[in-house]
Amino acid sequence: MKIFSGIQPSGELHIGNYLAVITQWLDLQEKNDCIFCVVDWHAITVPYNSSILQQKIKEVAAIYLASGIDPEKSTIFTQSAVKEHVELAWLLNTITPVGDLQRMTQFKEKSAKHAKNICAGLLNYPVLMAADILLYQTEVVPVGQDQKQHVELAREIARRFNARFGETFILPKVQIMKIGAKIMSLTEPTKKMSKSDPDQSRISLFDTPEQIKKKIASSTTDSGHEIKYNPEEKPGISNLLTIYSLLMEKTIKDAEKDFANASYQTFKQRLSELLVEKLTPFREKKTELAQSPERIEKILKAGAEKAGIQAQATMAKVRQAMGL
Ligand code: AMP
Ligand code: TRP
Repeated sequence: MKIFSGIQPSGELHIGNYLAVITQWLDLQEKNDCIFCVVDWHAITVPYNSSILQQKIKEVAAIYLASGIDPEKSTIFTQSAVKEHVELAWLLNTITPVGDLQRMTQFKEKSAKHAKNICAGLLNYPVLMAADILLYQTEVVPVGQDQKQHVELAREIARRFNARFGETFILPKVQIMKIGAKIMSLTEPTKKMSKSDPDQSRISLFDTPEQIKKKIASSTTDSGHEIKYNPEEKPGISNLLTIYSLLMEKTIKDAEKDFANASYQTFKQRLSELLVEKLTPFREKKTELAQSPERIEKILKAGAEKAGIQAQATMAKVRQAMGL
C-alpha cells in the first residue's frame, strides 16, 4: 500500500507525536511503500522564525531517523523540495468550496489563537495537505485524531476531482490509533498536548531525565486515589495510563492491573522511570546524528528526487485531465 504522512518543523516534537503517529509509521514501513515528509510549507502558515526554519527541518528529519524510520525502506524528504505540491494545491483550490475550509476545526482554533495574523494560507492549509496526499496516489494516511478531518477533506476533494475531470486520484483513507490518537496536556488534561503550549504541559522527545521526572510529578491528576481509565471523570490519570500502556505495549486493562493498589505517586514514579528508559535512546541518537548533518542532507536530497519522480507523473495526468 502507498502511505504518506508528515510533521511540521515547528516547535519540539513530543510524546503525542511519537506515540500516536511515528509508532504507526514504524509498523507500516515494514510492509508498505511509505513516504514521510517534513512539511515546511505548512509550518509557515502561522508566525514563525525564518532564521531557524532550516535547523528545525533537519531536526524533524533527525527525529524520523532517531525513531527508526529507515531511509532504505521509506522515502524521507522536505515538502518545499518538490514544487509540484504547490502546483497541485493551486489546482485543487479551484474545486474546493471556501465553506469547507472555514468549517475546519483547526482553522477555527488557529485563527482564534492568531487573530491578528490570519493569512489566506492558514485557510488554504488543508488544500495543500490534500495535494501532499493525492500527489503520491496515497491509500493510507496515518495521523493523530486532530488531522482526521483534514484527511477526510482530502478524500472529498479527490472524489470531487475524479467526478469532474475523470478518474485521476486514489481516494485516501485516514488511519488513527484506537487508543492514544489524542494524547492530552499534562497540565490541562482536557486539552491535547501541543508543541505550541508551555513546556511543562508536554514531554518532549529530548527532555532530560530530570525534566521528565519533574513534569510527571507535577502533572495534573484527579480527585480520588484509584488508577482507573475513565477519560470523563479522570482525564489526568486516564491520559497517564494511556501513555503508560502505549510505552509498555499493553492493554489499558493490563495497565490498570499493574497499579491495582498503588498510589498516584507510585504510578507517577514508575511512569517517569519508563519514560526515561524509552526516551534516552532518542537523546543519544540525536546527539550522534547532530554530528553528521551532511548525512541528513543526503537522505533528504535522495528522498526528494524519488518523491519528485512520482509527483511529476501524477501532475502530468492532472494537467491533462484539466486541459492545461
Ligand atoms: P503537528 O505536531 O501538528 O505537526 O502534528 C504532527 C502529527 O502528530 C499529526 O498527525 C497530529 O495529528 C499528531 N499529533 C499532534 N499532537 C498530538 C497529540 N497530542 N496526540 C496525538 N497525536 C498528535
Ligand atoms: N497538517 C499536518 C499536521 O499538522 C501535517 C501534514 C501536512 C500532513 N501534510 C500532511 C499529515 C499530509 C499527513 C498527510 O499535523
